[in-house]
Amino acid sequence: MPIEWQPRSQQWHLHNGRLSVVLGVLENGQLGQLYLGAPLTPARDYRHLARGPFAGYDNRLGDPIRFELPTPDSGDYRLPALAVRHADGSQVLDLRYAAHRILAGKPAIEGLPSTYTEDAAEADTLEIDLLDATSGLTATVRLTIFRDHGAIARSITVRNGGSTPARITTLMSASLDLLDGDWELISLHGAWSRERHVVRAALLPGRQVTESLRGSSSLEQSPFLALVRPSTTEAAGEAIGLSLVYSGDFLADAQLDLYSTVRLRLGLHPDSFEWLLEPGAEFTSPEAITVHSSAGLGGMSDTFHRLFRTRLARGEWRDRPRPVLLNNWEGTYFDFDEERLVGIATTARDLGVDLFVLDDGWFGVRDSDDRSLGDWVVDTRKLPNGIDGLAERVTALGIDFGIWIEPEMVNANSDLFRAHPDWAIGVPGRPRTESRQQLVLDMGRAEVVDYLYDALEAVLGSAPISYVKWDMNRTMTETYGLGLPPERQGEMRHRYILGLYQLYQRLTDRFPHILFESCSSGGGRFDAGMLAYAPQAWTSDDTDAMERVRIQWGTSLAFPVSSMGAHVSAVPNHQVARITPLATRAAVAFFGAFGYELDPVAMDARDRAQVVDQIAWFKAHRETLQYGRFLRLQSPFEATGNDTAWMSVSDDARHAVVGWYRELSRAIPGPRSIALRGLDPATRYRVRVWPASDDTLVRRNEFERGGDELMSAGLFIDDVARESALRGDFQARLFELEAV
Ligand code: GLA
Repeated sequence: MPIEWQPRSQQWHLHNGRLSVVLGVLENGQLGQLYLGAPLTPARDYRHLARGPFAGYDNRLGDPIRFELPTPDSGDYRLPALAVRHADGSQVLDLRYAAHRILAGKPAIEGLPSTYTEDAAEADTLEIDLLDATSGLTATVRLTIFRDHGAIARSITVRNGGSTPARITTLMSASLDLLDGDWELISLHGAWSRERHVVRAALLPGRQVTESLRGSSSLEQSPFLALVRPSTTEAAGEAIGLSLVYSGDFLADAQLDLYSTVRLRLGLHPDSFEWLLEPGAEFTSPEAITVHSSAGLGGMSDTFHRLFRTRLARGEWRDRPRPVLLNNWEGTYFDFDEERLVGIATTARDLGVDLFVLDDGWFGVRDSDDRSLGDWVVDTRKLPNGIDGLAERVTALGIDFGIWIEPEMVNANSDLFRAHPDWAIGVPGRPRTESRQQLVLDMGRAEVVDYLYDALEAVLGSAPISYVKWDMNRTMTETYGLGLPPERQGEMRHRYILGLYQLYQRLTDRFPHILFESCSSGGGRFDAGMLAYAPQAWTSDDTDAMERVRIQWGTSLAFPVSSMGAHVSAVPNHQVARITPLATRAAVAFFGAFGYELDPVAMDARDRAQVVDQIAWFKAHRETLQYGRFLRLQSPFEATGNDTAWMSVSDDARHAVVGWYRELSRAIPGPRSIALRGLDPATRYRVRVWPASDDTLVRRNEFERGGDELMSAGLFIDDVARESALRGDFQARLFELEAV
């Protein structure tokens, strides 16, 4: 039984052989956090790990005590995980243990995405009720431990059992108190076209913050944090990762206090969230996932990848190899008609593409981005036979058909806005700020969600559509809900996300065969919440190979390869104008949900022949690339950042693909090897180089090496080619390893 309750010593031990979490009732009845880390022996007493007096804050020595659900104004001067404003204006909460339950499996969270089990034996859940006797408020801490993953899922439900309203002002899904400050903090930062770059820095006294107040998880920061020891590497050492299963505003912070202990928090952003709880009402937080790894950052990522891929993502596409798609956006932008699209789809089919995706511009009168969002009716000027007519011609070619939508938005120049100006978010009497010429629909209103469901159901049900790219291209301003009373305006941002999830749920239920890909100006809503509905996300609008190496590396800290939309686009690249070899662009995009983002009709015969070869090669290795274990080998964020290497290895370690990428060519670089990981030391592998080179200076395109050698001495890049054959900037090589 992975959740063990010791009634005499009043402690719970959650363990699964991969990690342990120990909680205990403190002497004053509060809930203490005793341990999170590598597995501990079951059936032992760990109360002494509470440190400090085992008494909570009653004796005013509360600071160093580790609390499971800290509250403010209590003698614990660190940041709270739950704060409430009572009807009398006070905010003291004295939460004491009242009851607990141990459940087989994992209950779903109503209205919110969460990890799940397929069989109750896969997890156990502990629910601990804490009661504030004075107000009648209860907080239930819900912790799930998975049998097969080194991870804990946590959410909190607050119930108002009192007789006056209370206002929740802070509710953190994760709150971890760690006993020492010898950690470094890793977070993911970026911008449009430069998402999720890795930042690693020592913890400083005080508070370090990662957050979004943009209404979505954002391009700039990610709802993810990791703490690692200074000595932790990809392959070894301790790492704790936190990820929020949520797509809106969030706050993640680390507080290093006067005792050099650390409190780590992740949850709804208190600056844009409040929730009014009437007597009898309850509110449940989003879920946070905490991963503990004793096998480095790689071990942490491996746990996130497997958990998110198999027990967060859901639906018919979860375990299926993803289709190689061609998206017309960068190939045509708004300039297309049915004939041009069928021409592109036909060429794409000939190259080996599985799915043709029609991006923005097919509806309303959408010749530019300043009109028609909201009018989900086909533009018959461009597509005289409708979406169904086009879809039928494309599917008659023997490939699948998909479309782009941006449901949550409206242009002021649209029939929808003219009919329902009050559906767009804004404060009455004040101008609304536009961004990309568009406004945001109030997804917190049932009639808006119903309208969108009906409009999109009509489109998706009208034609053989098997893929949808769901975009969201602006951030939120002038947040105000017309349907909400003044005292509930602080709920607006969260209600928006709840409405968004409801629409996703209804559409994915109605069209289970459709593969959904989420998008937000590229990777602006690449989070664990979205993954529950859309098993893949557009990683970035930036498809330049060298930029993508960094973006995909950073994204892979928390997200599996199968979730990362990755396309080959034309050069000069539309975002950074860099010219990289076609093979390099593919060698990066192969480690993702692979596709093309260009007009194949405009390619010359040589490039097209290369694409045929690329797609065939990819399909032969897709299973290992998308569903194997992904290991980061050499970081573009360390040293000079000039070289990057990573690999995917099949679960049985008999097949692997290694990717090596070099930004700038340097004279006489010396011998270089990459130490591989995850192979079987006793196995010999046939190594084949892709793309194979016919350069006379290339020594060999194929050779054999032992797994032990490849992991210790490493794979020598110049076994493959003398430097002259790898001359030039922006080079890449893939190595396919097959057990012999
Ligand atoms: C966003 C997306 C792009 C494309 C455009 C269409 O920028 O990230 O991929 O779909 O919108 O307007």
